[in-house]
Amino acid sequence: MGSSTQTGATREPTDFGERVFRGALVNVTNVCNLSCAHCFVFRADNPNRPKDKMDDATMLAQLEQLRDKHGIRSMLFMGGEPMVRRDLVLRAMPLFERSSIVTNGTYGIPSAPGHLVTVSLDGPREMNDRIRGEGVFDRVKKSVFERDADDGTTVILQMTLTRLNADGIEPFVEEVKDWPVTGIAFTFYVPSLGDETGLGWEDLRERDLVVDRVMGVKRRFPERVKANIGALKLMKSGRCMEVTGEHGETCGLRQMLPLYMGEGGNFERTFCCYGNNVDCTRCGAYAVFNGAYHRAAGTTEEG
Ligand SMILES: C[S@@+](CC[C@H](N)C(=O)[O-])C[C@H]1O[C@@H](n2cnc3c(N)ncnc32)[C@H](O)[C@@H]1O
Ligand code: SF4
Ligand code: SF4
Repeated sequence: MGSSTQTGATREPTDFGERVFRGALVNVTNVCNLSCAHCFVFRADNPNRPKDKMDDATMLAQLEQLRDKHGIRSMLFMGGEPMVRRDLVLRAMPLFERSSIVTNGTYGIPSAPGHLVTVSLDGPREMNDRIRGEGVFDRVKKSVFERDADDGTTVILQMTLTRLNADGIEPFVEEVKDWPVTGIAFTFYVPSLGDETGLGWEDLRERDLVVDRVMGVKRRFPERVKANIGALKLMKSGRCMEVTGEHGETCGLRQMLPLYMGEGGNFERTFCCYGNNVDCTRCGAYAVFNGAYHRAAGTTEEG
């Protein structure tokens, strides 16, 4: 673990109490160059208005203070698009035992040896570009192929599944299966309460069919697809509420500290990593179910 050497006049971080949080997430910026319809970050109930009001020195100092106060060991760097503040993120990553980044990949894939970089793509070329913007698929592909595949960074492509792109699962795997990455992952839409976007599944039994399709590509490409059949079984309509609770009561992800960028450029904590006003009864966050699977099995998520 590194230590920052910030000495400037930086302000104290928001008081989040005394609890220990082994994991945390930080939205380093609310700026994003894309505008995906499914994105939870920019929903009305979430802190997301100020853009980059916390400067680098302040953020490095606050992350270090919060790390020491709450015992934070792993940090997930997110946004907005975290690579908008690439230098800051690369300086902040060594502050934690484990750091990872989730990026849209349009600013290149960062080299972060020993760490995880998740790159979002939401289907094969045409489908992805309908969601993420014209030309995005090819820009991301170029970045993936240009990076040094032996630099020690774990790079995972992640497709976020909604009702509207579920048909892209198999073509997506076919299209990216030979890319120089560590693997391909899937997560499912997390709706807001009263979500009217049409992106979620009204009846979770319909989502079950999509979960089955992810299990199908896992069975066909067991090395390339980083999904755990046991975790996917927990996502099925008959089991998911045990894992999430109606209001996140049993959700393991609520043990993480979500640091959103809020009023005055200060960190604000939201209900969970997916923000405020989320519908836990329809949550499709793969990490929730994978975490529950491993807790029950007594294994680690890395294992
Ligand atoms: C919010 S983005 C931030 C990082 C970066 N801009 C990106 O797109 O990867 C992080 C991940 O959350 C996913 N995501 C966005 N909205 C979601 C939602 N409502 N439910 C589930 N995942 C979502 C995105 O597809 C992306 O993979
Ligand atoms: S690129 Fe990421 S942060 Fe930006 S709108 Fe899409 S999902 Fe949201
Ligand atoms: S929306 Fe999902 S991740 Fe958030 S608290 Fe509810 S179950 Fe957990």
